[in-house]
Amino acid sequence: MEPIQVGLLGMGTVGTGVLRIVEGHQEDLQKQVGSEIRIAKVLVQDKSKSRRYALESDRLTEDAWEIVNDPSIQIVVEVMGGIELAKTYILAALEKGKHVVTANKDLMALHGAEILAKAAEKNCDVFYEASVAGGIPIIRTLIDGFSSDRITKIMGIVNGTTNYILTKMSQEGASYEDVLKEAQELGYAESDPTSDVEGYDAARKMAILGTLGFHTSLSFPDVSVKGISQISKEDIQYGKSLGYEVKLLGIAERQDDLISVSVQPTMVKKTHPLAAVNGVFNAVYVYGEAVGETMFYGPGAGEMPTATSVVADLVAVVKNLKLGVNGRRIFSPYKEKKLKTPEQIASKYFVRLHVDDKAGVLAKITQVFANCEVSLESVVQQPNHSIADAEIVIVTHDASLASMNRVLAEFESLEVIQKIKSVYRVEG
Ligand code: NAP
Ligand code: HSE
Repeated sequence: MEPIQVGLLGMGTVGTGVLRIVEGHQEDLQKQVGSEIRIAKVLVQDKSKSRRYALESDRLTEDAWEIVNDPSIQIVVEVMGGIELAKTYILAALEKGKHVVTANKDLMALHGAEILAKAAEKNCDVFYEASVAGGIPIIRTLIDGFSSDRITKIMGIVNGTTNYILTKMSQEGASYEDVLKEAQELGYAESDPTSDVEGYDAARKMAILGTLGFHTSLSFPDVSVKGISQISKEDIQYGKSLGYEVKLLGIAERQDDLISVSVQPTMVKKTHPLAAVNGVFNAVYVYGEAVGETMFYGPGAGEMPTATSVVADLVAVVKNLKLGVNGRRIFSPYKEKKLKTPEQIASKYFVRLHVDDKAGVLAKITQVFANCEVSLESVVQQPNHSIADAEIVIVTHDASLASMNRVLAEFESLEVIQKIKSVYRVEG
């Protein structure tokens, strides 16, 4: 039996793991698919760089076209990252009838629809399991496992770096700046952590999950995003005292045909299973009309967990090759995209205010909520000696985002409020 020839674009963290699994588990893989899976060529930027995995130098190339144009290569695995070059190579590979596996959420969240359309035109597979939540097989679960159900909500802790930072801030009372520095020293956070801490990485992943869960083509610009860089340890401690953990939560919701997708720091009730997801771990909570609540937990990044998903996709392509069914996937978004307006997005909110400590202040503040038709669940006031005034923490009942925005606009001109310290969505 001829080996299945694979071209690997990238031999960094994930690419090295792919080589380790494909070559280390070769015997098991062959038994599953009936052929040797051979990584014939590997693209890198710099062949002279020392590598953590020993590879014959004639298998390395700095020229992607040597892989894309090689007629003996049937499958291209893209783990180089970036958007424009990766897209060019993937579209060219599909044009030549090669199947594609990618871990690239940045690419799939922006250009997924175009890439999947090209794959359909060419009867090719494009699988991207590792693009969301690394080692958790959530994409296949949404496409296949929940095909019978109608999903109404997907909530995800889908960025390990920010979950590590928030966990440390919660458990050790450390500041955001100190934990970020430590995360960079440990190699969890990148030297430029913007994409993680500002929520963009999580937003890209939520666009992918929302597309699959709601059968609607969503992309990165459809997601409203707020990161964790403004979170203070005081917010986390106040949250804890009221029974919440702060998590960077991706929330995709559907009511009838209306959808909203957001990523934002959220106060999650400690009794909710997502509140217990700590450190660099990821979790995706899925609510379906028929199944009810489910949750998927595991490592969201790293060499071997991510490579596990990439190689599982590779095996799926090879199985399809054997069956002659590549590109015959029936899934495609079939619902028109209808995004909710701020009037239609409802949630509870946590608001922390610094206020003057004098008679009538609380009445003025609660009147603003009443004017904007936002009902309150709890109000806690305590002296704050560090600012010599008072601090009020309010948790609302469900309110529309539009109403909350009106409350905050009125607060800006209310003279008894010195500062709106923080506003969080509340879940659980
Ligand atoms: P990485 O460690 O930076 O590795 C990138 C690899 O691609 C390197 O081998 C690099 O070559 C090569 N490369 C990059 N640009 C190239 C170019 N223009 N021409 C030729 N070779 C190029 O990245 P990674 O962490 O493995 O991530 C790869 C992909 O997986 C990304 O899309 C990422 O978002 C996704 N992903 C990563 C993780 C994770 O835990 N790391 C988890 C889920 C998904 P050199 O080695 O010569 O520099
Ligand atoms: N930077 C990402 C994270 C890597 O921290 O989760 C996995 O996509």
